[in-house]
Amino acid sequence: MTRAQRPVANVSVTDPVSYLMPCIADARAREILARRWRCRIRLTATPTPMHLLPNFSERLGREVWIKRDDLTGFAAGGNKSRKLELILADAMNARATSLVTVGAQQSNHARTVAAAATAAGIDAHLILGGRAPHRPSGNLLLDDLFGAETHFVDDLDWTSMSAHARQLCARLRDQGNRSKRPYLVPAGGSTSSGVLAYAAAFLEIHHQLDLVDRTEATIVHASSTGGTQAGLELGAALLGAPANIVGVDVAQIHSDLGGRVRDLVAATAELGFDPPAVTPTVFDEYLGPGYALASDRSQAAMTELARDEGIVTDPVYTAKAVAALSDPRLTGPIVFLHTGGVPAMFADDAAAAYPAVQRSKGRPLAAAQNNY
Ligand SMILES: Cc1ncc(COP(=O)(O)O)c(C=O)c1O
Repeated sequence: MTRAQRPVANVSVTDPVSYLMPCIADARAREILARRWRCRIRLTATPTPMHLLPNFSERLGREVWIKRDDLTGFAAGGNKSRKLELILADAMNARATSLVTVGAQQSNHARTVAAAATAAGIDAHLILGGRAPHRPSGNLLLDDLFGAETHFVDDLDWTSMSAHARQLCARLRDQGNRSKRPYLVPAGGSTSSGVLAYAAAFLEIHHQLDLVDRTEATIVHASSTGGTQAGLELGAALLGAPANIVGVDVAQIHSDLGGRVRDLVAATAELGFDPPAVTPTVFDEYLGPGYALASDRSQAAMTELARDEGIVTDPVYTAKAVAALSDPRLTGPIVFLHTGGVPAMFADDAAAAYPAVQRSKGRPLAAAQNNY
């Protein structure tokens, strides 16, 4: 394989989700997915591309493809905009006047909620863990650009952040004399609608894998609130396709992420069909020093992928999944589902943590010019 070759799983139909929907045997699930898919509020430019990573495959000695959900095309991309297409439809049905959500200071989810709200003409309130920095960078800069109101709470405890969010909703309702209808979007958008959105994404991925004869490939991705993984598991089970899905726990918000994924799939019963039982696989050895913190392995993986393929990941979410791509437990072809998060790369903290060893590879301009 030379550096020039990059086979692409071209999409043969414009809407692979609707195309594959008739293959879902469970009539009730099929009908509900079809209706929810039709009624979503379009934010993304999907289907996203899928292509081989020739140089990175050579480095790892295994076939690695990438599914570009960093290119979902809304608010700087990522997995959350797929979820928000269905969640926003729920919120607008409830005649919401604002979206309220929670996240870490550099939350990709909060940034996408901010953009979805403004696109829908309603307000966004973001409860963010940590102190307000003296100048916004990365996702925080985008939160501001999208006109969201940020509320900082000085810890990253998810239970207390959710309590703050509920209090804020109550306050907004009271202040507005009942004319305000805040809509609470839980962390990561991992509601049943968010899960269903990634079940639909699985159909899209499956169609692309089918085109290159790789339906047995293992999908590896960063997992934290579990909604993306639950959706992929649900999509595979509904389609009767192999569920070779590995969530790389990058947050350890939940002590048992596999159990949380199972529960999220089971909870989709509230949508009106009988969800199948799933058995999720989670790798939990790639967290490093903790949630929202870079690890040596993630920094190295991020640099290798960038220099091999010109593809950007971020050190706290997606690069931890990239680090897992060489895990000896994985066999056969792999698809790295790139879930976005690139703006976090431009946060001041990420720049400060970027290791000197990577930086030192830059050559002086004069030396570079001598090569021509
Ligand atoms: C870039 C990125 N990748 C992956 C995830 C994990 O997705 P989920 O919360 O659905 O597990 C997140 C969640 O915040 C994220 O921001």
